[in-house]
Amino acid sequence: MIKKFLLIAAFALRLGTGIATSSASSDEGAAAGRTHHDAAYTRRVFYVGGDYNKTALGTVLQNQIYVEQLTPAAGKTQAHPIVMLHGGDLSGIVWLNKPDNGTGWASFFLNQGYELFLVDEWSVGRSGPESTAYKSTVGSGIGYEIAEVVFTAPQLYNKYYQARFHTQWPGKGTFGDPIFDDYFSKFGPVTLNAQAETIMRAAMCDLLRRIGPAMIIAHSIGDQYALLASDECPDLVLAHVAVEGDQTPFGSYDNAANGANTSVPYRPYGIANTPLDYSPPISDASQLVKTTVGQTTYTDGLISNFSCILQAESPAPRKLTNIAKVPQLFIVSQASIHITYDHCQVSYLRQAGVHVTFTYLPDVGINGNGHFMMLEKNSDDIAAYINGWIRKIVS
Ligand SMILES: *[C@@H]1O[C@H](CO)[C@@H](O)[C@H](O)[C@H]1NC(C)=O
Ligand SMILES: *[C@@H]1O[C@H](CO)[C@@H](O)[C@H](O)[C@H]1NC(C)=O
Ligand SMILES: *[C@@H]1O[C@H](CO)[C@@H](O)[C@H](O)[C@H]1NC(C)=O
Ligand SMILES: *[C@@H]1O[C@H](CO)[C@@H](O)[C@H](O)[C@H]1NC(C)=O
Repeated sequence: MIKKFLLIAAFALRLGTGIATSSASSDEGAAAGRTHHDAAYTRRVFYVGGDYNKTALGTVLQNQIYVEQLTPAAGKTQAHPIVMLHGGDLSGIVWLNKPDNGTGWASFFLNQGYELFLVDEWSVGRSGPESTAYKSTVGSGIGYEIAEVVFTAPQLYNKYYQARFHTQWPGKGTFGDPIFDDYFSKFGPVTLNAQAETIMRAAMCDLLRRIGPAMIIAHSIGDQYALLASDECPDLVLAHVAVEGDQTPFGSYDNAANGANTSVPYRPYGIANTPLDYSPPISDASQLVKTTVGQTTYTDGLISNFSCILQAESPAPRKLTNIAKVPQLFIVSQASIHITYDHCQVSYLRQAGVHVTFTYLPDVGINGNGHFMMLEKNSDDIAAYINGWIRKIVS
C-alpha cells in the first residue's frame, strides 16, 4: 500500500509505549505462550550500492542498501539463493519471527536448504537514509486505524466486499492486542519516488552480481524492485514471486478502503515511475497508449473488482522485453483488498509479454488470508506453495 493513506490518517493516534499492557485480549498466540524457534543459520551482513557525496559534514556515503545473508547452519542444499524484498512501512524484519512468535518465511526457506538475502530497501531499516535532496515523498508510517482496515482486521470494517473472508490473522488484529502491537511496532517510514526506483534498480543488480543468479520473493511495494531488477539485469533473476505486488498500472487504488473508487494517476511507465525497457522503445511515457478495460463492480454495495488501465490493443502493445525473460508467480489472497485490483497488474504484465502464473490462493486450497499473509496463521502453507512453484521453475 502506498502513502496516500497518510492523507486520511492525518489525525492518527500513534501507538505509544505502554499501550501493549492490556491483558484483556484473547489472542490465541499469547494464550498459547508460544516461543520462537528459528531455523538454525549463520548470519553475515553487508551493504551494496551507495554514493559518496561531499556535504558540509565532509564526504559521506549515501544510499547504501543493507543486506542480511542467512545461510542454513547445516549448509545450503539449494543451488541458488533467494532474495527477499519487504513491502511498504516494514523492513527485512517482516521475514523473521512473526508477531505471534511463530517462525516466519525466512525459517521456512532456510529449512528447505536455501541461502537467503534479506534486503532493507532504500531509506528503510538499516539502509542508508535519504539525502535531503530527495526528501519529497517520505512517509512516516501509517496510523493503526488504516492498518486494521486494510491489513489485520478488514473483516471488522468491511470496506470492500472480500474483507469478510479474512480469518487468518493471529489474535484480534486491533491495537491493544499484543500480536497487533508487536506487528505495528515494526512499522517505519517508507519512500516511494523516482529516486527510490533508481537507487534500488542499481543496488539490486549490484547485489545479484555479487551473489550470482537468484530467485526473488517480493511483497507489495517491494515488488517494484523485483521488476526493476528484472528490467536491468534479467539474466541474474531466475524467478520472481510477487506476493500481492502493488504496481497497479498507471494509477493507484490504494485508497479504495476509504471509498475512493477511481484510479489516482501514478506510474506513468505503466508499472513504474521511471523508464522501463519497452519494445518498440519509447523516449517518453506519453508514448504508451492507454485504455480502460473492464468495469468497476460492487457486490453487496461494496467494491469487489476494479477496472484496469492497460495498453490499448492498437497499436500493438509494447513488450517489456527484459522483464519477460523472468518467469513470474503472482499470488493474491482471498480477503486482501488487493483481490480487487491486482488482476490489473497481472493483465498488464501478460499484455507486455511476461509469462505470469496468477494464483488466487483459494484455488490451491489456502483460504482466509489478508495482505500480510507471511505473518498469518497459515503462513507456512503459502511458503510451501511458493517453494513448489520455484522448484518447478529452477532446478
Ligand atoms: C512471544 O514471546 C515473548 C518472549 O517469550 C513473550 O513475551 C510474548 O508474550 C510472546 N508473544 C506471544 C503472542 O505469544
Ligand atoms: C549531496 O549532499 C548535498 C548536501 O547535503 C545535497 O544538497 C545533495 O543533494 C546531495 N546529492 C545527492 C546526489 O544526494
Ligand atoms: C464512484 O462512486 C460514485 C458515488 O460515490 C459513483 O457516482 C460513481 O459512478 C462511481 N464510479 C465508479 C467507476 O464506479
Ligand atoms: C475482476 O475482473 C476481471 C475482468 O476484468 C476478472 O478477470 C477477474 O477475475 C475479476 N476479479 C474478481 C475478484 O472478481
